[in-house]
Amino acid sequence: MIRFEDVWLTYRHAAGASAPVAEALRGVSFEIPEGGFRWLTGPSGAGKTSLMKLIYLAEHPTHGRIDLFGTHAARISRHNAALLRRRIGVVYQDFRLLPQLNAYDNVALPMRLARRSEAQIHANVSEILRWVGLEAKLAARPDELSGGEQQRIAIARAVVARPKLLVADEPTGNLDDDQAERLMLLITALNKLGTTVVVATHNLHLVARYPAPRLGLEAGRLVYDG
Ligand SMILES: Nc1ncnc2c1ncn2[C@@H]1O[C@H](COP(=O)(O)OP(=O)(O)O)[C@@H](O)[C@H]1O
Ligand SMILES: [Mg+2]
Repeated sequence: MIRFEDVWLTYRHAAGASAPVAEALRGVSFEIPEGGFRWLTGPSGAGKTSLMKLIYLAEHPTHGRIDLFGTHAARISRHNAALLRRRIGVVYQDFRLLPQLNAYDNVALPMRLARRSEAQIHANVSEILRWVGLEAKLAARPDELSGGEQQRIAIARAVVARPKLLVADEPTGNLDDDQAERLMLLITALNKLGTTVVVATHNLHLVARYPAPRLGLEAGRLVYDG
């Protein structure tokens, strides 16, 4: 499903900046089979978000090779990349909800892009909003929601279209323990239904509660895979 082979990612700063480059990932290699689950751990700045951006094609490696869904990522056309992204549910670390849309329409977005019927959309969006405990907030815009509520909307949007691959970047960062537990139940259920899952976290208590294979990053290097 996902294969990294000696992947490097170097961010190039604008000319004149004091540091010329940031080596976010250094020679990272791993494989995640279809239907697999991986924790992605490491301290802040280790490269977790960068690795996830490569997976959902928001960045391209400076060196090395990435295969996604059995295809060499560098050879995927712009058009096919857009199609492929629709099969990937992403929970962004900074949520990225659309500010002008209410909670319902934010969550409905991936299904509308996939041209599902409004009846199907209504059924799925209502169900997932109930699951994340926000059925009463469906008319609220993001700026009317707390950080934790926005995070739960972002999670609902990522999973509503039953993605083949779910990439969640610190998805429990703004949640209390009960909500985090509920989120993990949701993610585990999706994984059992066949969705491949990668969850980045620096919360080792959460990892201990839900034992699963783990990729560990430190200063851009993969230091643990097991
Ligand atoms: N867009 C960017 N431009 C320049 N440097 C970046 C950018 N994004 C991240 N970095 C740097 O890359 C390194 C890894 O960052 P990141 O992937 O966000 O780590 P993590 O998610 O583990 O906290 C850090 O040193 C960070 O400062
Ligand atoms: Mg991050």
